[in-house]
Amino acid sequence: MCGIVGYVGAKQAAPILLDGLERLEYRGYDSSGIAVINNGIIDIEKAKGRLKVLRDKTENGSTVSGTMGIGHTRWATHGEPSDVNAHPHLSQSGRFAVVHNGIIENYMALRERLTSKGFEFISETDTEVIAHLFEYYYKGDIMDAIIKVMDRVEGSYALGVLSSDYPDQFVAVRKASPLIVGLGEGENFIASDVTAILKHTRNVYYLEDNEIVVLKKDEVKVYNADKEEVKKEVFTVDWDVSAAEKGGYEHFMIKEIEEQPKALRATISPRIKDGRIVLDDVSLTREDIKNINKIFIVACGSAYHVGVVAKYVIEKLCRIPVEAQIASEFRYCDPIVTSRDLVIVISQSGETADTLEALKVAKSRGARVLSIVNVVGSAIANASDDVIYTWAGPEIAVATTKAYSTQLSVVYLLALYMAEKLGTLTSGQYNKYLTELQALPELVERVLEDKEQFAYLASKFYNCHSIFFIGRNLDYAVSLEGSLKLKEISYIHSEAYAAGELKHGTISLIEKGTLVIALATGGELFDKTVSNIKEVTARHAVVIGVTTTEHTMENVVDHIIQIPVTSDIFLPSLSVIPLQLFSYYVAAQKGYDIDKPRNLAKSVTVE
Ligand code: AGP
Repeated sequence: MCGIVGYVGAKQAAPILLDGLERLEYRGYDSSGIAVINNGIIDIEKAKGRLKVLRDKTENGSTVSGTMGIGHTRWATHGEPSDVNAHPHLSQSGRFAVVHNGIIENYMALRERLTSKGFEFISETDTEVIAHLFEYYYKGDIMDAIIKVMDRVEGSYALGVLSSDYPDQFVAVRKASPLIVGLGEGENFIASDVTAILKHTRNVYYLEDNEIVVLKKDEVKVYNADKEEVKKEVFTVDWDVSAAEKGGYEHFMIKEIEEQPKALRATISPRIKDGRIVLDDVSLTREDIKNINKIFIVACGSAYHVGVVAKYVIEKLCRIPVEAQIASEFRYCDPIVTSRDLVIVISQSGETADTLEALKVAKSRGARVLSIVNVVGSAIANASDDVIYTWAGPEIAVATTKAYSTQLSVVYLLALYMAEKLGTLTSGQYNKYLTELQALPELVERVLEDKEQFAYLASKFYNCHSIFFIGRNLDYAVSLEGSLKLKEISYIHSEAYAAGELKHGTISLIEKGTLVIALATGGELFDKTVSNIKEVTARHAVVIGVTTTEHTMENVVDHIIQIPVTSDIFLPSLSVIPLQLFSYYVAAQKGYDIDKPRNLAKSVTVE
């Protein structure tokens, strides 16, 4: 969703802002803009469409001079994508320029009130009220004004505010929307996430809700809403700059697909010591684990799909009841969660609004929250009792791949960790699983070796209008992810069904030539799924079968994809790879914008 960058230093701000915004493009946007202050005057340039339009308009920033500024990529919520609705927004007199990420829920009431006071609005956005509010409340001290604005607006926001009265400093504040501060040498930054500023600095402050930051060239000060200075800890980000760059690949998505073995090793290896899983970051004791009544897994999209896998895995290994729920449903269903329950929250970005709110609901009911997160210092990580980080590195493509895979690996680690504490596995079983878990990255490498077959299948089927994914249990869980991946980037209608459920209605959609991707990897249910495949081939569907090298599907399906053999619980890590690659190549055949699919945002910070 929207992206924010801010800069103060000795260099020209506009090129730095444009470069930072480019690195935030992946978050999803439909217009962009920058505001730079020069000799006490705020100069603003905005443009609908891709950043290139803004680049061209400003000749790569060279027409906007000044060494301090703020920039924004907007993902439209209030008002269509247009030059006028793009940020930054100016206050009536032009004294304040504001960029905003989030939603101001009471903006209508504020707009009416400001209109009655003589303020004129030129955009349809909720953000413009903030610019005017600054002007309304400003009595010579920007800190006082920002505190008043915070007091009046309801909703979520990350704000960057430039004022012509302050030519050497700008301010920023956040509440329930991501914002970090980058600390450089003679220059300082704000950004929605670190990828925007990684090129300039690795030292950051993670802002808490309602913290206000005042940035100058050589100084950064953070205050609370009572104007008291807050001492912040400096975090050093260990992400590699090249990890957020394409490095010769055509798309981030294919780069990230290929990075999965490395990301899995980084996530798994440090947590296995002397033949045992060690989760230093988890404070749950053996007693705590024994006392868990029920586990809820709460997440959105692909992270929820990891939760569906986790339900099968944790129940099998730990014999604790698990319920996987979509965060946007969980938060409003008055969930029966108590202090005896563990809520596992899964989120790559750590900023997904619904997931964060669901977490708060769980906490308010006394549940303990353990989160699986990729972004250090993110809101979800900060709000959790325990965090297990996935060490996937920055994920730029909107369609998640390596984050999904590393989340799965954390689920395996956690399930085995709890099973050991509970004594639900024999030491033989535990050791076997551990050996196989450590071998997973290598097996993923093997699946990645033969990419041509997926490119070939994509070239055959990219014109399909509708594709069905079927499977049972874990295969069903992976089908959900395969179907979402395809929909997101290829815009082909697709549905994932539990293979045994098809005949209860959906099979009526199967006709001659319908493509069905059938996952039959699990040993125990292989024959059952084959029966379901026969049901669709009898109706002349074309079937791609995904199974292990242990099984044969000859004479059952039209095309066979085989993955290496391992224990059933680990097969999702392997079977998802062909589905990611198939979706990628289908979208590539169609010539779509794979990394930034239409209507989607990487980090969904509105509900
Ligand atoms: C997956 O490809 C999607 N981009 C999306 O479903 C994503 O998994 C979901 O929005 C959750 O995001 P999060 O992991 O950052 O919370």
